[in-house]
Amino acid sequence: MEDYWEKRYRNEGMIWGSAPSRTTYHAIDIFRKHNIKTILVPGSGYGRNTKAFSSIFQVDGIELSKDAIEIAMNWDQDTHFMQGSILSSIGRDKKYDAIYCFDLLHLFLSPERNILISNCIQKLNHPSLMYFTCFSDEDKNNGIGREIEEGTYEYKRNKFAHFFSEEDLREHFRGLEVIETGSTIETLHYRDNQNSEYTLRYIIVKN
Ligand SMILES: C[S@@+](CC[C@H](N)C(=O)[O-])C[C@H]1O[C@@H](n2cnc3c(N)ncnc32)[C@H](O)[C@@H]1O
Repeated sequence: MEDYWEKRYRNEGMIWGSAPSRTTYHAIDIFRKHNIKTILVPGSGYGRNTKAFSSIFQVDGIELSKDAIEIAMNWDQDTHFMQGSILSSIGRDKKYDAIYCFDLLHLFLSPERNILISNCIQKLNHPSLMYFTCFSDEDKNNGIGREIEEGTYEYKRNKFAHFFSEEDLREHFRGLEVIETGSTIETLHYRDNQNSEYTLRYIIVKN
């Protein structure tokens, strides 16, 4: 996966433009209500979402791609970016009041999805929140291409994703208190003025 993202950031730079996901505004509202001060953003990319948080909260990002981090360090100078995998023990000793994880969970097969969630839980204070987004089973790409695992499809050549039903998403976070789940249409704005839309789900849980 590292190669895939490294190549994309090297060739396309700020792939989805500079605007953050609309879900960041929703997350900010909820984080403020819960008096959140520190946030970790796994899979922070080039910082388009961290920048929405970093003037309000103290933010750390974990990102696999060196190229993305180079862009991020210019774009969002208030966030501290760490290069590495959230699936390993990176940043092991620090704990956060909240985690915001945008569209990372669906990129993995079942064992890694569980590692991602349990590694995130280990980085949380008590009490704390997690806000995760992922592809929805209501998205038009669900069911397209070869099925690799239940609900996981190679929907583009050499690219697979897991498409979550509401029940499946809740099941991934079993044991945690679910504060809210929902579904929304996300619009991506590419550099060449092209837009694309897809359906995502989000879940907010309390630890
Ligand atoms: C779909 S992109 C989303 C990027 C960013 N959240 C955004 O929307 O602008 C997924 C990101 O996760 C990163 N990534 C993939 N696997 C990772 C891992 N194991 N640890 C940390 N980052 C990872 C990729 O390099 C990529 O930047």
